[in-house]
Amino acid sequence: MNPIDRQKQAAGTAAALEIRDGMTVGLGTGSTAAHFVAALAQRAQAEGLDLRCVSTSKATAEQAEGLGLTVVPLDDVDSIDITVDGADEIGPGLSLIKGGGAALLREKLVWESSRRCIVIADAAKVVATLGAFPLPVEVVAFGHAATARRIRDAVLRLGLAVEPRLRTRDGFPVQTDSGQLIYDLACGALPDPSALAGALKSITGVIDHGLFLGLADEALVGGINGVARLVREGLSSPGRA
Ligand code: 5RP
Repeated sequence: MNPIDRQKQAAGTAAALEIRDGMTVGLGTGSTAAHFVAALAQRAQAEGLDLRCVSTSKATAEQAEGLGLTVVPLDDVDSIDITVDGADEIGPGLSLIKGGGAALLREKLVWESSRRCIVIADAAKVVATLGAFPLPVEVVAFGHAATARRIRDAVLRLGLAVEPRLRTRDGFPVQTDSGQLIYDLACGALPDPSALAGALKSITGVIDHGLFLGLADEALVGGINGVARLVREGLSSPGRA
């Protein structure tokens, strides 16, 4: 395991310790979240924890079920106690860019149903300003190139000149679990993430974007000296009522 992966594993393992018997747990997507799922499954088995999990992607659901965790649909739960998920960037106030794994829509749906959200990452993900990582935007497949042009124009009105890039793999457009497409916006430093989030959401054809603002309550960040806990400013203690 390389050093970055070890940091991800340390963060995932620390997050698994936050889970209590009887909880409904949101499972994130990506390599860091996969470490959390593995650590959670290990704890659940060793301690006989009775857990229900809601997954943010088909890939994570497969992993979790393969490890013996019970995965239920989001529609079957009233609320989720804790969601643990990775991020592509962690900026000021625990603002995030997510969606590198193309799961941003299901991730946001699960996060918004959660009483407490913990983001887990290696130290390189913590940045002073969001935007070095291209912002993923999920768009409806129908008319996606026209939607991309409207995204370009809307973003330009905010002073950011960027050509949205359709995400492909092996020469084919990447399809999300919901059958839609992803455009990546290499904007560079984002001076006003909230304004950008609002502008993107107002475009017909945009389903959602990877800016997660005001959603993460805490971050567990693996580094060379262990795992650091960051709590969102203004929260006296972790969690939402
Ligand atoms: C998936 C995500 C991931 O959480 C994000 O891409 C981080 O991935 P990793 O833990 O593999 O670095 O948002 O849509």
